[in-house]
Amino acid sequence: MPKENTENNEKFGYFDDLNYEYVITTPYTPTPWINYLGNDGFYGLISNTAGGYCFDRDPKFRRLTRYRYNSVPLDNGGRYFYIGCNGEYWSATGRPVNTELDEYTCRHGMGYSRFNASKNNIATEVTSFIPLNTKAEVHRLIVTNNNDTEQSVDVFSFIEWCLWNAEDDGANYQRNLSTGEVEVEDSTIYHKTEYRERRNHYAFYSVNRELDGFETDRESFLGPYRGFDRPLAVEKGQASNSIARGWSPIASHHLKLQLAPGESQSLVFTLGYCEVEPEQKWAAPNIINKTPAQVLSARFDCDEKVSAELKKLNDYWHNLLGKFQVQTPDDKFNRAVNIWNQYQNMVTFNLSRSASFYESGIGRGMGFRDSNQDTIGFAHMVPEKVKERILDLSATQKEDGSAYHQYQPLTKKGNADIGGNFNDDPMWMVLSTANYIKETGDFSILDEVVPFDSDPNNTASHFTHLERSFNHVVNNLGPHGLPLIGRADWNDCLNLNCFSENPNESYQTTQRGASDVAESVMIAGQFVLYGQEFVDLCINIGKADLAKSCQSEVDKMRQTIKQHAWDGEWFLRAYDANGDKIGSNDNAEGKIFIESQGFCVMAGVGFDDGKALQAMNSVEKHLSTDFGIMLNQPAFTGYNKYIGEITSYPPGYKENAGIFCHNNPWITISEAMLGRGEKAYEYYSKITPAFLQDVHQLHKTEPYVYSQMIAGADSATPGEAKNSWLTGTAAWNYYAATQYILGIRPEYQGLRIDPCILPSWDKVSVSRTFRGATYKIELRNPLGLSKGVIQLEIDGQKIAGDMIDPTVFANQHNVIATLCNKD
Ligand code: GLC
Ligand code: GLC
Repeated sequence: MPKENTENNEKFGYFDDLNYEYVITTPYTPTPWINYLGNDGFYGLISNTAGGYCFDRDPKFRRLTRYRYNSVPLDNGGRYFYIGCNGEYWSATGRPVNTELDEYTCRHGMGYSRFNASKNNIATEVTSFIPLNTKAEVHRLIVTNNNDTEQSVDVFSFIEWCLWNAEDDGANYQRNLSTGEVEVEDSTIYHKTEYRERRNHYAFYSVNRELDGFETDRESFLGPYRGFDRPLAVEKGQASNSIARGWSPIASHHLKLQLAPGESQSLVFTLGYCEVEPEQKWAAPNIINKTPAQVLSARFDCDEKVSAELKKLNDYWHNLLGKFQVQTPDDKFNRAVNIWNQYQNMVTFNLSRSASFYESGIGRGMGFRDSNQDTIGFAHMVPEKVKERILDLSATQKEDGSAYHQYQPLTKKGNADIGGNFNDDPMWMVLSTANYIKETGDFSILDEVVPFDSDPNNTASHFTHLERSFNHVVNNLGPHGLPLIGRADWNDCLNLNCFSENPNESYQTTQRGASDVAESVMIAGQFVLYGQEFVDLCINIGKADLAKSCQSEVDKMRQTIKQHAWDGEWFLRAYDANGDKIGSNDNAEGKIFIESQGFCVMAGVGFDDGKALQAMNSVEKHLSTDFGIMLNQPAFTGYNKYIGEITSYPPGYKENAGIFCHNNPWITISEAMLGRGEKAYEYYSKITPAFLQDVHQLHKTEPYVYSQMIAGADSATPGEAKNSWLTGTAAWNYYAATQYILGIRPEYQGLRIDPCILPSWDKVSVSRTFRGATYKIELRNPLGLSKGVIQLEIDGQKIAGDMIDPTVFANQHNVIATLCNKD
């Protein structure tokens, strides 16, 4: 059965849509294909062989278990279960033991992963999840004897404790090889490193059965110079009851099972995190207070309790995903929109860009620009959390409207090391806020009192914060009247003021150029789009004068773009620190960039004079490939310090002419706005993983989630993806699919139906929860159109216009929307 895939021609799995699962059929995927566990601050990453780690809130400061990034072999460190029987042993999750299994599957589902394996007729099933509102991973292992004779089976669990601060854990060995401390009581192993000093928290790993032995010292478990693939204790079939004193503490339970023919036994393992009030830390001198751990593990001490928690988790996800469900003639579209895209959106809400197989969890905090954009992917699912997130972001904004580029999740304070001056940052908050209000109708977010720079003595309404965002652009214009770019705009790697010659400095935080000259056309388009959004918001709350003055700024920018940012066949990208054009046909490399085309057209610039259409035609001609739309062309072939990090990447990768998926939906939306349904769909599907089943081997990353980047035409490996999961692509492609292709668009006054679909789609059904009501919408397309006018019928009654007014139609309604010719 599962073999190491040396031929590179194997399929790796399939979608089980009924159960909202992706089923992986081999441990040898091209990269570890992971899932995320946890919803409420305690999270785990888990690969298809149970690799990964878990943490409480902050993957740098509160990491429970150790994971070795970019290690050999790949995917090293996880929650392992060694199964031994009749002198052989193997892994219940496919690795780290390389013994070939007779059967293996990993099912990644919504907030859980399940591993089924079988060897010599001993079957195992591991179900891993983090129950709702719980700071613990639960792993239920069921072992079944399918032989016709009684069998003795040895089970060894294994996790390795991280010494909490993940960065320190990988650096400060002179200290941390001396600090490790554990306790063992009953069937629980406690990790209490640094608890004797300033930590009021510990971790534990327990099992709901009496132990036949344990290990807490890594070298005692593995034996000297052995890897995770052949631990000595497992080979001997006996644990040595080691107690770690410094070095590398682990937790391994040894359990001996006696199984009659056909018999199953289940074991529940709980890997938990506890905080203790400082005055209650100790039960006796140097003996920790174990009550919280006992209370926590007692919640999962039998099968029934575990099943009940799993059901709650399932219901939670069905409810969340149920807020938007669509049936089109295309299963791939349905599965992406209904299941995996919404799921990935929630993961970006929880994790931002912090912890993935590519993000080490020690680098980045919550990005101002990324987090604001992410909210457009889940405002319909968790609006209260979106409100909180937006206000957290707002509280880090500075008085002049600029933003810290990131804030830290534990303190919620702006990160001074990274600082600000990414001049696209402020306007993203207008997008997130407007989108939130349109979804919920809750204008009260504008009245919330919010600090500047986290200073409780310096506050203003959230609306004032948005006004500062708007003015930050107006107050920072360059010689052509276009917005100054600062350190960078959306493209972190277009560093026109950096001029770096020192390999030890960061492009993102270095700025030595004349920042009063380099200008961004992307921010100009963004300002027209979200500036107009701000004007609309003002009108909706009765601020007519402000709306008027802001409108004139927006109109001015629109003119400036036409006057100074049109290159003849497409929109320019920028003016550099010398006032020279970037993204012009006059340039030798980087003649055309995607961002300014997307943002100017989404802003509606050039719809009146053909420029919008021409820009889109240029995108197709110069940037489109089989695997998506490249960021720029031609690629930069060598380093140019005046352009910055973009030129540091080899051609075809990342920002240098890679297919940077995040920006592709901007083109999809633009095409939909222009009414070209087939083009919009083509761009949408090229980067959507559900459509890429046939190119998994090439694509390499998980076939159920978006990746940040797919290598472009200039690369050696076109079509190869990297940086899966934590990418703005998720929110944006969801937004494009639901609000622009399906055209079911929340607006202040209600839910507009304005689709731009494939002409071949004759019927589409949508169930959409909106402001407490549920609309069963049937979109009919008898004439085979992409775009047209909508005739609405609600509960059999004809309605003028294409908007469902939730104040008239509360609760549940049947809507028929028929797409008709314009005339
Ligand atoms: C990364 C960053 C995002 C940025 C993009 C383009 O995805 O997280 O903030 O916009 O790169 O450089
Ligand atoms: C690098 C990456 C870019 C990312 C940035 C943020 O520049 O190329 O994608 O946004 O780092 O750290």
